[in-house]
Parts: sequence; C-alpha cells; structure tokens
Amino acid sequence: MVKISLGGCKPFVKQEEYDSYLNKAYAAFDELQGGKGAGNDFLGWLTLPEDTPESLVAECEAVRDDWKARGVNLVVVIGIGGSYLGARCAIEALSHQFLPKEGSPRVVFAGNNLSEDYLAELMDLVAKCNTACVVISKSGTTTEPAVAFRIVKEHIYKNYKDSAERIVAITDARKGALKTLSTQEGYRTFVVPDNVGGRYSVLTPVGLLPIVLAGYDIRALLKGAADERKALTVKGEDNAAIQYAAMRNLLYSGFGKKVEILVSFEPRLQYLGEWWKQLYGESEGKEGKGIYPASVIFTTDLHSMGQFIQEGDRVMFETTVKVENAKRNVVIGSDRENLDQLNYLAGEHVEHCNRMAQLGTKLAHIDGGVPQIEISIDRVDEYNLGAIFYYFEFACGISAYLLGINPFNQPGVEAYKKNMFALLRKPGYEKETEAILKRI
Ligand code: PA5
Repeated sequence: MVKISLGGCKPFVKQEEYDSYLNKAYAAFDELQGGKGAGNDFLGWLTLPEDTPESLVAECEAVRDDWKARGVNLVVVIGIGGSYLGARCAIEALSHQFLPKEGSPRVVFAGNNLSEDYLAELMDLVAKCNTACVVISKSGTTTEPAVAFRIVKEHIYKNYKDSAERIVAITDARKGALKTLSTQEGYRTFVVPDNVGGRYSVLTPVGLLPIVLAGYDIRALLKGAADERKALTVKGEDNAAIQYAAMRNLLYSGFGKKVEILVSFEPRLQYLGEWWKQLYGESEGKEGKGIYPASVIFTTDLHSMGQFIQEGDRVMFETTVKVENAKRNVVIGSDRENLDQLNYLAGEHVEHCNRMAQLGTKLAHIDGGVPQIEISIDRVDEYNLGAIFYYFEFACGISAYLLGINPFNQPGVEAYKKNMFALLRKPGYEKETEAILKRI
C-alpha cells in the first residue's frame, strides 16, 4: 500500500495550519466520493478496480496470445497524453533497463509528437520486425496519433496478409473517426468508457492492453488498485490521499510554493513523473490557479537541477516517491590499491549509498527551505504500480476540488490545436487561417 510521511514539512508548517487544510480536504473528499463535484460525469475511474470484469482482462490476454501465435515481436502503441503515458510508465517501470523481455514483443510508442525524424526512425525499426499496432484515441480525432497511425497502418497493409488482425483500436464506443475506420476495416476494438477521461484511463484497456502485451500481469495491477481504493475510501487523518491533498494545498496557498517536484531515486520511475505531471497539470492548471508539476530523477538531476533546488527562487516543495526494496543486489567490492578511495564502502550495497543520498538530499533541501513530502511503495511491481496509480488519481480529485477546480476537463489544450489547424489550412478553419496569417 502507498504510505505517506509529512515529517519533512514540519519545520515549515504549524499543526493548526495543517489541521485547517485537513478539514478542507475532508470536504473535498466528500465531494469526490459523493459524486457531487464539478465534472461528476467523469467519475468512472473511481470504481474501475472493482468494476473491471474478468472478461475484459481475458480479452486483453487473448490479443497477447493471438499475436504471439502470429510471431509478432514489435508492438507499436500509438497515442498521446492520457492515451499513452500510463502504459509507458508501467512498462518502463517493470522492464529490465537494458535487456529485452524474453518471450514478449518489444513495445514502442508513437503518435505522441509530430517529429518527422521520430516517425522515419520508427519505420526503420518497423521494417525489420514482425509488427502489430495498438492505436489509442478516446476522441478518435487527435492529430498526432492519426498521423502516426496512417503511416504504420500503410506499412502493415502492404506487408501482411492478416493486416486487420494486427491492428487493435481503443476508442469511444460509438463516435469518432477511429471508431468508423475500425468498424469498416474489421479491427478488434476496446472501449474507453465515456465517463473516464484520458489521464484517468490507465486502468482501462488504454493501459491494460499495452501492459499485458509487454508481458506483465494486469490482474496484479488491478488488485493493487483495488486494495488501495479500499484504504483510501476511509475518511480520516490517516488517509494518505487526504493528507497529500491537504499538505500540497497548504504549501501552495499558505506558503507560495507554486512548484511541486516529483522526485524519484529510481531511473525506472522516470515515466511515473511524466504520467503524474499530466495528471496533476491537466487536472489542476486552470483559471489562473494550480501547482506547476515538475519531475526529476536523483541522483542524476542533483547534478543538473540540484543547484536551483538548493539555492534558487524558493518556489518549490518536493514529493519523493520512495521504493522500500530494490529488486536486485549489487555489492561494492574492495580494491587493494584503493586509488578511487572507495574502500570505505567495500561490502556495502549500492542501494545503501542511494538511501544515504536520499536522506542527505532531504535534509539539505529542508535546510534550503524546500518542504519534503514522502510517498512510499514497497517495491516496483505490478501490484504496487496499480496502487500508486489509483492513489495519485484519487488524491488528484480531492486536491483539485479543494482548490475549487474541475479536475476532469482540459479546455486549455484546445488553443494550440486551433492555431495548428488554421496554419495547416484544415478544411473548416478558413476564417482562423485568415486571422492567424495576419499575426505572423
Ligand atoms: O487527459 C486527457 O484527456 C488528454 O491528455 C487526452 O488523453 C489526450 O489529449 C489524447 O486524447 P485522445 O485519446 O482523444 O486522442
């Protein structure tokens, strides 16, 4: 289960200040749980851990087994934002950091940018592999995945007789261009439920299918989320999501801490930071409000961002995701000459050094005026990832309601799209094209 420690905030906040935010967080919890808050038609994610039927899990596993039988060794997962970050986070966290997973296809991601070089190089890989593709778009109309899919699809159609069997679409149940195309071409499809927004969709087929295709256990993922849900639905001062929402809002509103940095000392959790940034950034950053979510991997980024965090403008607090148990053991050896002067560490696990770096950083950053929240999981596995996904989603709902924001829309994302369509001269955007050309 996910645990939280707020001890590293004590030097900065008074108990009564925290208590008053705890009360606000209780009210926000009631709003979320009661389904009465803004955007309450997007609360389907709340009960996904218990609502996901066995048949859906089995359908995901059936695609995995079918593609295995076809010899697929590369799966291109196409999607952007909430339609890829959860899956990428889980797969990167669970995978060996250097070696491929035996018996499972390599899973790569596309459609999350518009770089020509990226797509060209992706196609170099696709051409060398036995390829299948999962295309994910809830709206079914997003430009980035649509462009990538057109290119990957063309390759699949040209090169495989069983092309339609090598494409799975995850989209709306009824509407959108991807739904229409899937029906016409006979692709297998999975549904993104109407009442689950993109960034809350990791426990739907949007996350489950890519994760199972990469060879990981989605039943354990769902079990972790279900157990976490049980813990978080109990209202009280021990509720780790309520504590997190209360403290981050106190630091923001009471102390001007406008930036939250999600820290991990595990490089395999880099994409947890990316997923979390989207979740909190898109959910809370509205109406001129919100904590700016940033992320770092330490100790790597202590040698790049460490200076600013220690001594720059005091706008930030840190939330460190601690992993209690490493998966592997590496012990530092002894060296007769000791030219590197590391013999004082001989016999120690590398993880011991990592922990001391973690503790030393925490104390240094407290001294530098950076409050510290700690969130910990037992280990990096499917169960704990399911738990932390659910944890951060639930806490995000509470936190946004506490801030007075609808966490389930993203009106600001449309602004760049409108300009891009105008500049690309998309049919229907003629007036916008005329207007934008006058500006440049
Ligand atoms: O959280 C969200 O809703 C967004 O980030 C979407 O996931 C993202 O814009 C992709 O949208 P779609 O799945 O409709 O292509």
